[in-house]
Amino acid sequence: MTGNSELDALTEAEARAELARLAEEITRADLAYHGADNPRITDADYDALKRRNAAIEARFPHLKRDDSPSDQVGAPPAERFEKVRHEVHMLSLGNAFSDDELDAFVAGIRRYLGLDAQTALTFTAEPKIDGVSLALRYEAGRLVRAATRGDGETGENVTANARTIADVPDQLDGAPDLLEVRGEVYMAHDDFAALNARQSARGGKAFANPRNAAAGSLRQLDAQITRARPLRFFAYAWGVLSEPLAQTQMGALERLGALGFVINPLTRRCADMATMRAAYQEIEQRRATLGYDIDGVVYKLDDLALQDRLGFRSTTPRWAIARKFPAELAWTRLEAIDIQVGRTGTLSPVARLAPVTVGGVVVSNATLHNEDYIAARDAAGATIRDGKDIREGDWVEVYRAGDVIPKIRDVDLSRRPADARPFAFPRQCPRCGAAAVREEGDAARRCTGGMACPAQAVEKLKHFVARGALDIDGLGGRQVEALYRDGWIAEPADIFTIEERFGSGPRQLKNREGWGEKSARNLFSAIESSRRVPLARLIFALGIRHVGESAAALLARHYGSWAALAQAMDRAEIGQGPEWDSLLSIDGVGAVMAQALVTAFHQPAERASIDRLAAQLEIVDAETAGPADSPVAGKTVVFTGTLEHMTRAEAKARAEALGAKVAGSVSSKTDLVVAGPGAGSKAKKATELGVEVIDEEAWLALARGG
Ligand code: IVH
Repeated sequence: MTGNSELDALTEAEARAELARLAEEITRADLAYHGADNPRITDADYDALKRRNAAIEARFPHLKRDDSPSDQVGAPPAERFEKVRHEVHMLSLGNAFSDDELDAFVAGIRRYLGLDAQTALTFTAEPKIDGVSLALRYEAGRLVRAATRGDGETGENVTANARTIADVPDQLDGAPDLLEVRGEVYMAHDDFAALNARQSARGGKAFANPRNAAAGSLRQLDAQITRARPLRFFAYAWGVLSEPLAQTQMGALERLGALGFVINPLTRRCADMATMRAAYQEIEQRRATLGYDIDGVVYKLDDLALQDRLGFRSTTPRWAIARKFPAELAWTRLEAIDIQVGRTGTLSPVARLAPVTVGGVVVSNATLHNEDYIAARDAAGATIRDGKDIREGDWVEVYRAGDVIPKIRDVDLSRRPADARPFAFPRQCPRCGAAAVREEGDAARRCTGGMACPAQAVEKLKHFVARGALDIDGLGGRQVEALYRDGWIAEPADIFTIEERFGSGPRQLKNREGWGEKSARNLFSAIESSRRVPLARLIFALGIRHVGESAAALLARHYGSWAALAQAMDRAEIGQGPEWDSLLSIDGVGAVMAQALVTAFHQPAERASIDRLAAQLEIVDAETAGPADSPVAGKTVVFTGTLEHMTRAEAKARAEALGAKVAGSVSSKTDLVVAGPGAGSKAKKATELGVEVIDEEAWLALARGG
């Protein structure tokens, strides 16, 4: 009995239907924040829905759905927080999983900076805390704002919650006028255990691990709940600053420590590779007794001037890396191998496992990568796992490292069932029956059905409406699947004619199950407002293989407009010619991505579908110039001769970061030639064409903006 007569009167069938309805409604509300100036429901109504859902589940525990909204761990949905744009993006870290990869990272830095192996490089080493990152902005020494990382560009405003954390000072003495301190919020093991005990005593849901507990606690709408949760904070980085903190990473950490922040006591300074490795070993050995979760060691180049020269790739700094600990392991039975068909037709084998806890998380699926992996071969045809193939019914060893999807490491042949047969990887798409082919050099087998394959079509549509792409409010994965299944939409362009076709007349959206007058109207207006789309988002939304969000941004910046991009793709030939070269000149675009892009635009059915889509949209041009105040923004620059203060790679990356295009040869389109000693024909040609030629010093002054 719940004490609520309406709930107490529910029959089992009614409860089941009501839980389904609530799951839909709550999910829809969760999706509603993307671009929603008027969220679908108020916070209070949202909370009431969640409470009602929990009350029904408490009365009928066996009816709890697999997708129950109660399991959307602790964290209230992001839309409930005000958004914060990070002035300096919050980045992630590249990973190294072995000493060799760590060596390669250091060698890469030397190469980039043009240093030989003799030049000493000092790094800091510190534990990689397994929590959630937080940015704290102090103005005149006062904490004015705290924000989560979000997608790195935009986070959530959690100021009231951050103020409840004892390790987060409210007031700083002697700090720069503007100081953004970054670090990790985490929960210690004993606090986590006590919290879970309290939760279950109250009939609440236990958290899966300390990180989920920290994230859920930080992202509470009610700061009083956060206050009751024992969160802690380590400072390890910074964002915007009115003046530098120090000249070295270590110096900056010490300064933060002096200001009152907690700096991890295991932070070390390492002057050579041997010390770097020793720091890793020390931290790994102490891991079990630290009392909080860490998942690796972070190395950062100590000299901040060098950090500055190295700069960033699209999402990671060149001057830091995380050396991850080996993964956690567990044995379980592989019950079946399923084949999933992805957006680009890849057949992905998935292991369905008897549920097992690995590193504190229950795992019931693991990736099997591709057919070679199952057959115990690597991409080059060499044997892996000592030649043990993976079969349905096998006992397998599962591992996971950090957030990475669980994988299978080993097979116990002594427990293999007598009737187990080698897995026969399908030669036909299990969804549409089209041939599944494997091209030379490709590890994956792909369905050749294209948009005629329902799996590919629906995945493409889901990607198209998802976050980062068109982000259409009210049109989530489930809705897309239903509309596709009933033939209402077959390709992205169809979304923009839904209202025309199903806004009135015999078949109407509002009469479909799960829809109503209001939700249909809301969807039509969300679709209308998404017609106007920035070029980068559209490129990403197309769902072309290898073209992720940051590549889409680079392409948009390079081509500027949809017309320019489409024309370039029309003219491009794979592997040769000026358009191909132009594509490859984009820092961050390689031959594999370029080929996928050109292939997509040249494939007649796909191109026709893209054109139908473009005709429905108003595509907003991208800013092709770099930071508007840079004097080299939009200029085409050629470097020639020997550069003394930087390597070619560095010069190119720096110029591009300032919005310049870097070309390999001089033509009438060149704006500027930077010539070092030994410059030959290029400098001469520039003079003949009347192109400005400057030396490296002048270039550096220009790049500094002066
Ligand atoms: S430095 C520009 N140091 O790891 C580099 N990150 O995988 C900024 N993290 O988003 C990060 N411990 O949330 C840094 N000692 C540490 C860290 C750390 C944990 C997290 C951080 C970051 C993620 C990247």
